[in-house]
Amino acid sequence: MLDKINALLAEINDLSVNSHEELESFRLKFLSKKGLISDLFEDFKNVPPSDKKEIGQKLNLLKQLAAEKYNFLKLQLQPSDDKSLVNDLTRPSVPYNTGSRHPISIMRNEIISIFERIGFTVSEGPEIEDDDHVFTKLNFAPEHPARDMQDTFYISRLSAEDSSPDDILLRTHTSSVQVRVMQNQKPPIRTISPGRVFRNEAISARAHCIFHQVEGLYIDENVSFADLKQTLMFFAREMYGKKTEIRLRPSYFPFTGPSAEMDVSCTICGGKGCNVCKHTGWLEVLGCGMVHPAVLEACNIDSRKYTGFAFGMGIERPAMLKYQVNDLRLYFENDVRFLDQFRSAF
Ligand code: PHE
Repeated sequence: MLDKINALLAEINDLSVNSHEELESFRLKFLSKKGLISDLFEDFKNVPPSDKKEIGQKLNLLKQLAAEKYNFLKLQLQPSDDKSLVNDLTRPSVPYNTGSRHPISIMRNEIISIFERIGFTVSEGPEIEDDDHVFTKLNFAPEHPARDMQDTFYISRLSAEDSSPDDILLRTHTSSVQVRVMQNQKPPIRTISPGRVFRNEAISARAHCIFHQVEGLYIDENVSFADLKQTLMFFAREMYGKKTEIRLRPSYFPFTGPSAEMDVSCTICGGKGCNVCKHTGWLEVLGCGMVHPAVLEACNIDSRKYTGFAFGMGIERPAMLKYQVNDLRLYFENDVRFLDQFRSAF
């Protein structure tokens, strides 16, 4: 029996294979249940006790070697195998690991794509702005509380008492971009301005001093509140689903009149009432209204000929609802374990 084992050891040592078929016959011959090694283990029962130790060790060695050789030959076959596959141009390619988009970007792109479908263009402007574009041209009275240091990060302020158009600040909303568009383009204007905005608020799970907005502006002859409502209804149903209802509540903004806040029927409970909508059935999503004639005039647009509507929404809150993120701060920490979870077509 020892000779037999030694002969097989030598055979396995010298063996080489050129194809998967040869490898498989090697496996069948040596390693399968009906293979030579199994047979030898069967014969081992008849070995006299005095030889058991020596033959047993040899037999185990044979088994181990055969298994190792099999794995080695299998690996050896792999590269040549790959080569033949590389030549097969009909094979799908190996997908790249492309990373994922930030949830705020996904949400922003989704909002943009909805408005692009109904003819809105995208406009951008500076984050560091002046008082004139953020407040004055938008009909904020000089003493309006929103200009107060509480809300606005000033970079340079000429006087602490009264604001001057030359004050430099971080924009508190992207309405400033719309002022720039109105100054530089003739109606009809149909544009949305996505971007980052800054307000001096304490950072918590539900508030941050940096957040993102998409604001919209439509100016033409005979634009009415009905156009505003219809546009927002289209947006709400594209964004939150076909069954979504909207509700407009009277509100106030210095740059619009009449002004409203828009609620959508709760995306979680469908309007029945739940924790997320605080049992009201409604979620507040944006502010809107008809552009104030004083704003049009300040931007050199004839307010007797043209009317328009505007709206503005935050991106963080809908993204929290959509992805069930319960802490706003996660959006700004850039932890890859958080970011890796977001995959999207947008
Ligand atoms: N600019 C407002 C805000 O930041 C939103 C808004 C835009 C409201 C346009 C009405 C019209 O809250």
